[in-house]
Amino acid sequence: MICVCIGRGRHKHTLAEHRYLAEQGVRLVELRVDYIRSQVNIKRLLADRPCPCIVTCRREQDGGQWTGTEQARQLVLRTAIVEGADYVDLEDDIAGSIPRFGKTKRIISYHNFRETPDDLEGIHRQMADYDPDIIKVATMAHRPSDNLRVLRLMRNAEIPTIGLCMGEVGTPTRILAGKFGAPFTYATFLHERQLAPGQLSFKQMREVFRYDSIRASTEVYGVVADPVTQNLNPVLLNAAFHHLKQNKVFVPFRVPPDELGSFMDSCSELGIKGLIVTVPHKEAIPRFLTQIDDAVRDVGTASTVVFERGGVVGYNTDYRAFLSCLDEVFPDVARERMMVGKTALVMGAGGLAKAIVYALKQREADVVITSRTHERAKELAEQLKARTAQWYERQKVETNLIVNATPIGMHPNVDESPYDPTILSRSTIVFDTVHNPEQTLLVKGARDVGCRVITGVDLFIRQAAQQCAHFTGQEPPLELMRTELKRAIGPAQA
Ligand SMILES: NC(=O)c1ccc[n+]([C@@H]2O[C@H](COP(=O)([O-])OP(=O)(O)OC[C@H]3O[C@@H](n4cnc5c(N)ncnc54)[C@H](OP(=O)(O)O)[C@@H]3O)[C@@H](O)[C@H]2O)c1
Repeated sequence: MICVCIGRGRHKHTLAEHRYLAEQGVRLVELRVDYIRSQVNIKRLLADRPCPCIVTCRREQDGGQWTGTEQARQLVLRTAIVEGADYVDLEDDIAGSIPRFGKTKRIISYHNFRETPDDLEGIHRQMADYDPDIIKVATMAHRPSDNLRVLRLMRNAEIPTIGLCMGEVGTPTRILAGKFGAPFTYATFLHERQLAPGQLSFKQMREVFRYDSIRASTEVYGVVADPVTQNLNPVLLNAAFHHLKQNKVFVPFRVPPDELGSFMDSCSELGIKGLIVTVPHKEAIPRFLTQIDDAVRDVGTASTVVFERGGVVGYNTDYRAFLSCLDEVFPDVARERMMVGKTALVMGAGGLAKAIVYALKQREADVVITSRTHERAKELAEQLKARTAQWYERQKVETNLIVNATPIGMHPNVDESPYDPTILSRSTIVFDTVHNPEQTLLVKGARDVGCRVITGVDLFIRQAAQQCAHFTGQEPPLELMRTELKRAIGPAQA
C-alpha cells in the first residue's frame, strides 16, 4: 500500500487533497499537520474523512515545520488520538509519554537526517518498548549498504516495520519496502512537493514502479549510475515488464564510483537479477563480472549485467544497439558488408564513441575519430585501428556516415550542433546519439537536406529493448517503449 503525504498550509487545501487522493484510489494518507499555518483543527480534518489517515506533527529537528511549543504539539497528537485518527505518528522520544487509547494505531518513528547509524537493531529494539503497531525508521543513506541494512531490518522485524532511507541513494528502499515486508511505503502528492529528501510521487510509485504489485517474490532489476535521477530506463523497463506480465520491478540505484564493489556484493541479498550500467561505471564494471562477451573484452566496457546460474554475465549492448540501428538503414545490404568501403566520421572519443568505433570496425568501415581533446581521439584510434582528424577540421573529412557521440545539442544547449548540417550532402547518413531532445539542430538540419537520419531515441530504445530481452528472454515491446520514452522526454523536447 502507498501512503500519500499531504503537507498544506490550509485546512481547506488539506481536505481537498485528501478527497482527491481517495477518489484516485489511495487507501491511506498522512496528514502532516505541522504544515498547517493556523491553529490546527483536528476535528475538522478527521470528520467525514474519505479514506484512513495518519496524523503526524513533525518538529523541525525531525524535518518538520512545527513552530509552536512542544506542549502544544503533543496536545495536537493527543487530540488526534481522542478524535479517533486511524494512526498517529509518535517520535520515539515522546512515545513513552503518550499512551494508547481507543482504536488509534501507533506508529513509533525514528528520524536521522545525518546518517544511517550502525546500531539500527538496537534502536529498533528500544522502539519496540513503546507499544507500537508499526515501527518507522527513516535515516539518511550515503552509500548503498545503508539501504541494505534498512531493508534487512524490515525483513527480519517481528513488529511490522517501515524502513526508509532518505536522499537519492535511498530511493530503492522506498520502492522495495513492500518486497521486504513493510506494511506500506510513503509517497508525495506531487513530485515537486517532497516532504522528505528522495521521496517519489504517488504517480511515479503507482504508474512507473507499480508499487502495489511488488511482492516478496518480485525480481529486482535496475540501473546503476551516479547521478541517476534523470535516467529514463525505469520508465521504459517497468512499462515493458508490465506489458510482458513479468513479476519484476526496475529500480534506480545511485551508486557513487567508490561504492560499486560493495553494491555488487549486495545484489544477491537485494534480489537483483539484472542491471543496466551507465556513467560512471561502464569501465569499472567488467572487473566484477565472471563472464563477458567479446565486445566487453575488446571495448573494455559493459552496459548490461545479468546474474544467472551463480555467475555474473556482462554484455556491451551499446555496441549491439548501434549496429541494430545501422541495420535498419541498410535493409537490403548484407549486414557484414554494409560499411565496407565506406568512411564514418565519429565525433567524440568517450565511452559511447569507443563502442561505436568498435562496431564500425566490425563492419569493416574506414573510421575517422575527431574529438575536442585530440589526445583522446588518438588514443582510441590507436587502440581500434582507426584514423583521426583534428576537431577544427572535422567538416573537411569526406564521409558517408557522421556520428555525434558528444553531448553537443543536448538539452539545455539545443541551439548547438557539432556539425554544420547545411554543408551535408544528401547521401550522407547522420546518426546523432543525443536523445534529449530527439529533434536536435543536427537532426533537423540533416532532414532538411534530405539525409537519412538515425536519432538518439532510436539508439536508446534499441539498447533498452536488448536489455529487456536479456532480462526477460522475451521479445521486447519496442513501440510501447518508444511511446513511453517520448512521453517521458516531453513534447517540448521531443
Ligand atoms: N541515445 C543513447 O542511448 C545514448 C546513450 C549514451 C550516451 N548518449 C550520448 O552520447 C554522449 C556521449 O556519451 P559518453 O558516455 O561517451 O560520454 P563521455 O565518455 O563523457 O564522452 C563525451 C565525449 O564528448 C566530448 N565533448 C563533451 N562536450 C563537448 C563539447 N562541448 N564540445 C566538443 N566535444 C565535447 C568529450 O570530449 P572531451 O574529452 O574533450 O571532454 C568526449 O569525447 C552523451 O552526452 C549522450 O548525448 C546517448
